[in-house]
Amino acid sequence: MRLSILLWLVYVCLTSSCVRDPALHPARSLLRRQTTPRVPLTADETVLFDSFDTKTIEEWSYYYTHGAHLAGTNRTMAQWTADRWSENGFQGRLDQYVTYLNYPVSHSLSLTYPNASVLPLSLEEAVLVEDETTSYPNRIPTFNGYSFTGNATAEYVYVGRGQVVDFDALVALGIPLEGKIALAKYGGPFRGLKVKNAALYGMVGCILFTDPGDDGNITEAKGYAPYPDGPARNPTSVQRGSVQFLSTYPGDPTTPGYPSKEDSPRADKSAVVPSIPSLPISYAEAIPLLRALDGFGTPGDQVNRTKWVGALNATYSTGPAPGAVLSMSNVMRDAITPIWDAIGIINGTNQDEVIVIGNHRDAWILCSWDGEEYGLVGSTEWVEEYVNWLTQSAVVYLNIDVGVSGKSPSLSATPELNTIATDIMKKVIWPTVPNQTLYDAWSAENDGEVGVLGSGSDFTSFLHKGISSLDVGSDQGVDDPVYHYHSNFDSYHWMTTYGDPGFHYHAAMGQYLTLLAYHIANDEIIPYDLPVYSTALHSYYDDLQETIKSTNQTLDTSELFAAITEFETSANEATALKNQAVSSNDDALKTVVNQKFRDFQRGFTSAGGLPEREFFKHVVNAPGIDTGYAPTTFPGITEAVEAGNFTRAAEWVGRTSLGIRRAADILKT
Ligand SMILES: *[C@@H]1O[C@H](CO)[C@@H](O)[C@H](O)[C@H]1NC(C)=O
Ligand SMILES: *[C@@H]1O[C@H](CO)[C@@H](O)[C@H](O)[C@H]1NC(C)=O
Ligand SMILES: *[C@@H]1O[C@H](CO)[C@@H](O)[C@H](O)[C@H]1NC(C)=O
Ligand SMILES: *[C@@H]1O[C@H](CO)[C@@H](O)[C@H](O)[C@H]1NC(C)=O
Ligand SMILES: *[C@@H]1O[C@H](CO)[C@@H](O)[C@H](O)[C@H]1NC(C)=O
Ligand SMILES: *[C@@H]1O[C@H](CO)[C@@H](O)[C@H](O)[C@H]1NC(C)=O
Ligand SMILES: *[C@@H]1O[C@H](CO)[C@@H](O)[C@H](O)[C@H]1NC(C)=O
Ligand SMILES: *[C@@H]1O[C@H](CO)[C@@H](O)[C@H](O)[C@H]1NC(C)=O
Ligand SMILES: *[C@@H]1O[C@H](CO)[C@@H](O)[C@H](O)[C@H]1NC(C)=O
Ligand SMILES: *[C@@H]1O[C@H](CO)[C@@H](O)[C@H](O)[C@H]1NC(C)=O
Repeated sequence: MRLSILLWLVYVCLTSSCVRDPALHPARSLLRRQTTPRVPLTADETVLFDSFDTKTIEEWSYYYTHGAHLAGTNRTMAQWTADRWSENGFQGRLDQYVTYLNYPVSHSLSLTYPNASVLPLSLEEAVLVEDETTSYPNRIPTFNGYSFTGNATAEYVYVGRGQVVDFDALVALGIPLEGKIALAKYGGPFRGLKVKNAALYGMVGCILFTDPGDDGNITEAKGYAPYPDGPARNPTSVQRGSVQFLSTYPGDPTTPGYPSKEDSPRADKSAVVPSIPSLPISYAEAIPLLRALDGFGTPGDQVNRTKWVGALNATYSTGPAPGAVLSMSNVMRDAITPIWDAIGIINGTNQDEVIVIGNHRDAWILCSWDGEEYGLVGSTEWVEEYVNWLTQSAVVYLNIDVGVSGKSPSLSATPELNTIATDIMKKVIWPTVPNQTLYDAWSAENDGEVGVLGSGSDFTSFLHKGISSLDVGSDQGVDDPVYHYHSNFDSYHWMTTYGDPGFHYHAAMGQYLTLLAYHIANDEIIPYDLPVYSTALHSYYDDLQETIKSTNQTLDTSELFAAITEFETSANEATALKNQAVSSNDDALKTVVNQKFRDFQRGFTSAGGLPEREFFKHVVNAPGIDTGYAPTTFPGITEAVEAGNFTRAAEWVGRTSLGIRRAADILKT
């Protein structure tokens, strides 16, 4: 093998769980579901494929799901992972970071009706006899990671999905927000931004609830029994999760930009974690809260905001309802505590070309980057420690987060990876339809378009150091059993009964990722398609023109267009050089091309970072400041235009163009 491979955690996320956006995949078009013949495997590829056996995956999954796996709680599990890798030819080790985390101590929530009667909520998920881990004595309470310790007692307002535009709509409707508690629906932006926005509008607490309206076709209303009797959502399921301000800074909030060691200086974290308490609740417990607002404020169907009205039996009125008061309490324990990234290495012949493959081991429930759930902590601290080495040698970072939560494959990547990533899909059989390839299954749902990377998983730190990155997984489609994201019901029992009985999808995902890594490691030229990157830049440019047009203002983007053209020329030259290196079989030339391919992404990073979020440095794509998960392209320019700051937008046309020209220079021949 030419390149070194650095494996991080487990190949396939076993019961899966993560910061990642759990949004459903759109309806599958069965009519478009074709089966094109599988591209045949070479002898080496066959060896790699056949090394996957579903029984081992099942055993490992059992192991990971039957012991504590909340960040920082189980060193044994991390060491077990490293030991299994060592047994299989990797050099295994643990890298420890000493990070700020907080753990739940106690919480309570009650609704006082205008007639003074009080309804206490349990804040508990059901214990199910069928699902043994739901009754574990050390199961994790429902809570938000990095949440604020505090109490609030106030009338409350339903704020939809809690984006800035939702709050602006409430302000326009004259709904009082100051001093009230926010009741926000999950979905859309990352949950931490909902809490951040509530505080920004003067609110004093935030309750987050899951709505079955986001569950696709598999709901009780459509006749399906809830888990464990059927595939619909268990009404008591609660989505835990971090409330860090992920679009500003991931990683340990007390060590921005440097690794968390025992003696590291600790910075003020207040700019990236909430200043008001928050609690996640189930839909069963959200119903009385929503219904108490019925008839007060503006009815949901008149608010005119995306997905404002969900599927519960209520009008989703804004409130507040005079005299309907929530009392909430959230007590967390701060800890500066070790977490353990399990690392496994296979040396290749070229020490200066490295592939990093990662998945996280921690999860919100019971439970091999560690600390991903709190805000990508394990991966961010690791990248911060090894940044010099990584920017010298990393060729790619391949991420898998929720390996399998449904049958709907998803793929996002920096565009130079699109061609190899989709070509490899044509070699993997996807279990849904006999003989159907992963490529056919994926393209039926995604129109053959590879997604743009936003944030929400461990690729973030790599991408924003200018490292080519890819994120793959398999998500819940509208017709799949409901994935109980961040709930106690995301369990071994759920996975073996509904999610992936027999672990066939897990094996297929593992085969895909292995084959992709194998080609990047072994092909004589790193299999990057640079002209695809040029095409992507042009399409982001067109999107930007639309954004500018929608403001009715003008912005001179000619410098950006010129930079993209320059990139296109260099990308074409580099591609010609690659063809020459291959046809002449010239090793020195191949090395030159490989170095250009490895390094060109570094050019896209802007030294000072994006406005007001220094961590995020990539000028081409970043998570939206008010979405957290979803990407924004040319973020420096686009977000300034959206905010109406055309001085900043003009400045960022310059900085973005500079980044693109730097990347072009690296590719130039
Ligand atoms: C760590 O996880 C393993 C495997 O699930 C489990 O056996 C062990 O009890 C856990 N350790 C702790 C301290 O919870
Ligand atoms: C108070 O109002 C709630 C909600 O309408 C109702 O369920 C409850 O029965 C009422 N309690 C009394 C004592 O009237
Ligand atoms: C399934 O969901 C899709 C998209 O939401 C919808 O168009 C379709 O009618 C649904 N089918 C059923 C049987 O509910
Ligand atoms: C929402 O849209 C409807 C129909 O377009 C309109 O009648 C109503 O006034 C709008 N409501 C608000 C609050 O703007
Ligand atoms: C929804 O609520 C209304 C009004 O309280 C009630 O009459 C109706 O039966 C409820 N519908 C369902 C499906 O529970
Ligand atoms: C916060 O609320 C809890 C639960 O109601 C209560 O025990 C505690 O005394 C309150 N703390 C403060 C500071 O009011
Ligand atoms: C891999 O390479 C590193 C760095 O050169 C070296 O320290 C290590 O011993 C090598 N491991 C093996 C198993 O060859
Ligand atoms: C799947 O492919 C195999 C081998 O090409 C073939 O023998 C079999 O008939 C195919 N099955 C279906 C259902 O198409
Ligand atoms: C832009 O102009 C159009 C047409 O005059 C108008 O409908 C729209 O509201 C304007 N948009 C903004 C953001 O001012
Ligand atoms: C607009 O951007 C400039 C340059 O980044 C900044 O100095 C200024 O404060 C911004 N204006 C507003 C109103 O945010």
